[in-house]
Amino acid sequence: MANGLSKSFGGIRAVDDATIAVPQGSITGLIGPNGAGKTTLFNLLSNFIKPDRGEVIFDGAPIQQLQSHQIAQQGLVRTFQVARVLSRLSVLENMLLAAQHQSGERFWNVWLKPRKVREEELRQRERAIEILETVGLAHMTHQYAGSLSGGQRKLLELARTLMVRPKLILLDEPAAGVNPTLINQISDHIRRLNQEGLTFLVIEHNMDVIMSLCDRVWVLAEGRNLADGTPEEIQTDQRVLEAYLGQ
Ligand SMILES: Nc1ncnc2c1ncn2[C@@H]1O[C@H](COP(=O)(O)OP(=O)(O)OP(=O)(O)O)[C@@H](O)[C@H]1O
Ligand SMILES: [Mg+2]
Repeated sequence: MANGLSKSFGGIRAVDDATIAVPQGSITGLIGPNGAGKTTLFNLLSNFIKPDRGEVIFDGAPIQQLQSHQIAQQGLVRTFQVARVLSRLSVLENMLLAAQHQSGERFWNVWLKPRKVREEELRQRERAIEILETVGLAHMTHQYAGSLSGGQRKLLELARTLMVRPKLILLDEPAAGVNPTLINQISDHIRRLNQEGLTFLVIEHNMDVIMSLCDRVWVLAEGRNLADGTPEEIQTDQRVLEAYLGQ
């Protein structure tokens, strides 16, 4: 889905001629040492930042010209390495806000079509509650998002992406700072959603998670492609081991 992507910050080549393919229906992994450029690659794939060079193809078409909310509407959504939840809003409000932002809704719709907007709000609310139930956060629906544990925040972020009925979800370290029980739950949700037809690209330092979830793994080091293959191939790849040892 991305060819020859490059992005520099000042003198640093954060992503340097990187290529990655994420087959439809797969759970694809993206690994690499700290600072390898993984998050920057996500930012490029979701058009949060513009590449210096290269292109991103999603669903057969380039997406460079689109705004983030348009990309979300097309079915490509992402989570953040540090979960971006609004602490002073309830879990439910976080869900609804995400849907609103990602649909690019305009505030004057409220004045133009009050009934339609109200109906849509109710539909979104029902959907949010349904999703919260499936990820096991139903009991937190009306709690402040700020009262969630680290793992629950990661779950909320995943839940929030589902509001727009995505096709491809980019997850930036879904297991980081999450306790082992919840890591298993998050992995199970990813697997289940994948079986329901969703495609995933997952950045993770937790190799157990990568090994147990992914069909294929791409390795970045210093912004460049280092290797790609099945989890087993990657695990025994000398170049990959060296890149991690050299950290
Ligand atoms: N907005 C930015 N401005 C300047 N430098 C940046 C910016 N974003 C990333 N970098 C630099 O680009 C490089 C790649 O960072 P990136 O966050 O993509 O790595 P990563 O692989 O996600 O690392 P980690 O595993 O620690 O999350 C690093 O050297 C980082 O300092
Ligand atoms: Mg990162």
